[in-house]
Amino acid sequence: MGPNITDTLHRPLRDLRISVTDRCNFRCRYCMPAEIYGEHYRFMPKAEMLSFEEIARLVRIMAGFGVEKIRLTGGEPLVRQQLEKLVEQIAAIDGIDDIAITTNGVLLPQKIQALKDAGLKRVTISLDSLDNDVFRRMNGERADVQQVLDGIAAAQQAGFAPIKINSVAQRGVNDHTLVDLARYCRDNGLILRFIEYMDVGTLNGWKLDQVVPAREIIERIGAEIPLEPIEPNYRGEVASRYRYADGSGEIGVIASVTQPFCGTCTRLRLTPEGNIYTCLFAVQGTELRDLLRSGAPDEAIADRIRGVWQARADRYSEIRSSLTDLERPKVEMYHIGG
Ligand code: GTP
Ligand code: 5AD
Ligand code: SF4
Ligand code: SF4
Repeated sequence: MGPNITDTLHRPLRDLRISVTDRCNFRCRYCMPAEIYGEHYRFMPKAEMLSFEEIARLVRIMAGFGVEKIRLTGGEPLVRQQLEKLVEQIAAIDGIDDIAITTNGVLLPQKIQALKDAGLKRVTISLDSLDNDVFRRMNGERADVQQVLDGIAAAQQAGFAPIKINSVAQRGVNDHTLVDLARYCRDNGLILRFIEYMDVGTLNGWKLDQVVPAREIIERIGAEIPLEPIEPNYRGEVASRYRYADGSGEIGVIASVTQPFCGTCTRLRLTPEGNIYTCLFAVQGTELRDLLRSGAPDEAIADRIRGVWQARADRYSEIRSSLTDLERPKVEMYHIGG
């Protein structure tokens, strides 16, 4: 399908993040506030979503451009029926050497073994606090901490290691519980990564003063359990890594707001209905479903993807502070996939 491609800032295309559904069994305030996504909210009809065969075809075409790493997201990816069938199809594609999932964890006990058998390599589980009241408030009263801990245990039992935990830090909401979560993860062999609260989407009423800067997170944890910085695992890793000085594990921070990493961003995003977005903060995507469903050959689809990537100039997080139109329309996180 042709050689690797680069964008206008010389960044190659390496990772594809696939949002497999816009549905979720949580209603996190910073993502899908319950008062908007209530009983009457209309989620995407099945016929509009790409089938697993259509997704796998796109992955095959993109593997031809150098995509190696796939991450399944949502919404909550595990609410998509028979997700293991998609994993199986992707795992069979030449050139794909990593398939990971980002999930809220609640459905893992039912699903993880089938996913593992299908070829899933890595699991990242979101958990914003160990304090049940704080956690329930953040997820719209949809789940208890224990359900997520059961999901983590199920993934550990299925042999996934090390498991990463994602935690969004929000000042005044969960920042008084960060150190507890760090201790818990260290004691249980989990790699915790705190994510700075980002201004994705338009519904969460994001304010800069709700961001806990990564440096502050590291200082607060380091004051209780001494930390040392360590090198990234690979160029372009979004998390900055630290190890506990006593050798008891590692922790990371994803400083998307205070120390953006657009310069090494090799990620493309695919939405459930088959649009591609070149940035988490993009306003406009490019449709691929029309080509997929009109009988177009692979070359035509490859041409469109190449055109989109070669025109890419996104570096939203690096220029955020100089933007004046902060009210511009953006796509929601659960739609584009975290
Ligand atoms: P590995 O390093 O492969 O484990 O994956 P990862 O760090 O990409 O993992 P994950 O998907 O869990 O990403 C963690 C979080 O970082 C996401 O949920 C986002 O909040 C944030 N993030 C990931 N990619 C981007 C990006 O391209 N831009 C921005 N601004 N944030 C991102
Ligand atoms: N800022 C930072 N992280 C977010 N996530 C969802 N919304 C935001 C936001 N506004 C996280 C989720 C999950 C991952 C997919 O993205 O908590 O860990
Ligand atoms: Fe669901 Fe994740 Fe959004 Fe929470 S952050 S509502 S778990 S998609
Ligand atoms: Fe990539 Fe856009 Fe995130 Fe920058 S803001 S790292 S370009 S997705």
